[in-house]
Amino acid sequence: MEPNSTIDNVLRVALVTGSTSGIGAAIARALSRAGYAVVLHSRSSADTGRAMAAEMKQAVYVQADLALEADRVRLINEAIAEWGQLDVLVNNAGISKVIAHDDLTSATSAVWRELNEVNVVAPFHLIALAEPALREAARYRRAGSVVNISSHAGVRPKGASIPYAVSKAALNHMTRLLAVSLGPDIRVNAVAPGLVDTPLTAEWTDAQALWRTRAPMRRSASPDDIAKAVAMLIDSDYLTGEILLSDGGLNLT
Ligand SMILES: NC(=O)c1ccc[n+]([C@@H]2O[C@H](COP(=O)([O-])OP(=O)(O)OC[C@H]3O[C@@H](n4cnc5c(N)ncnc54)[C@H](OP(=O)(O)O)[C@@H]3O)[C@@H](O)[C@H]2O)c1
Repeated sequence: MEPNSTIDNVLRVALVTGSTSGIGAAIARALSRAGYAVVLHSRSSADTGRAMAAEMKQAVYVQADLALEADRVRLINEAIAEWGQLDVLVNNAGISKVIAHDDLTSATSAVWRELNEVNVVAPFHLIALAEPALREAARYRRAGSVVNISSHAGVRPKGASIPYAVSKAALNHMTRLLAVSLGPDIRVNAVAPGLVDTPLTAEWTDAQALWRTRAPMRRSASPDDIAKAVAMLIDSDYLTGEILLSDGGLNLT
């Protein structure tokens, strides 16, 4: 199911952060197929971003390091300037660190700060910067929509490391808080994936075996599985504050 941006022949614009790779690339492609004009973004993979933009019908690429406040401001300004509007913001870019949960000394303050800045502070700041444009979407077209990509690690005591899991739990709670603050003009939801086959998890063989043997769906997710969940939330005019756990049912076992 892909969100229908062209049902009324009105242009809709989506910014997908971290969209040169993995889950973000699948979301950007799904939104482009559904008729959205897409703003692609990444930290350093600019050549990939520009090549993807060239393949899509209406797309541009903007480079920005989300750890830097000035880059976040420039990203939102450039995204809105391209078509003069913004309807959808997908906060997908995120970083992870693998640290055993019982190895407390390796989870240094620097690790906490780095993960918190990119996985929590940056999504909040981008939403704040995009708020006027998303409210304008509600006035002229349809409620603005934000989808945050968190993690099952933010819902259950699991994940690559405690700082990572806590950053995603914070993102989930922020999602609910902002759904209250920004409705009805802006809906705010999250998708919380389990294991997804992306460059980030290519070497996570133990987790891959766990999903193959324990998850009711007997496999990890593809990026397209997650893109479908994101599209469903974007297209559901009455859903806000939802954290959609997309883990193939692993949490049930
Ligand atoms: N894969 C999984 O199993 C899984 C599970 C649960 C949740 N998630 C979440 O899903 C999201 C996407 O994960 P993925 O596996 O698709 O990751 P990925 O393949 O590593 O791609 C990450 C994307 O985010 C960008 N990015 C990272 N740090 C950035 C920064 N400081 N500023 C700007 N862009 C930055 C990267 O740009 P560059 O390549 O240019 O650096 C890249 O485009 C993340 O939030 C992750 O935590 C993933």
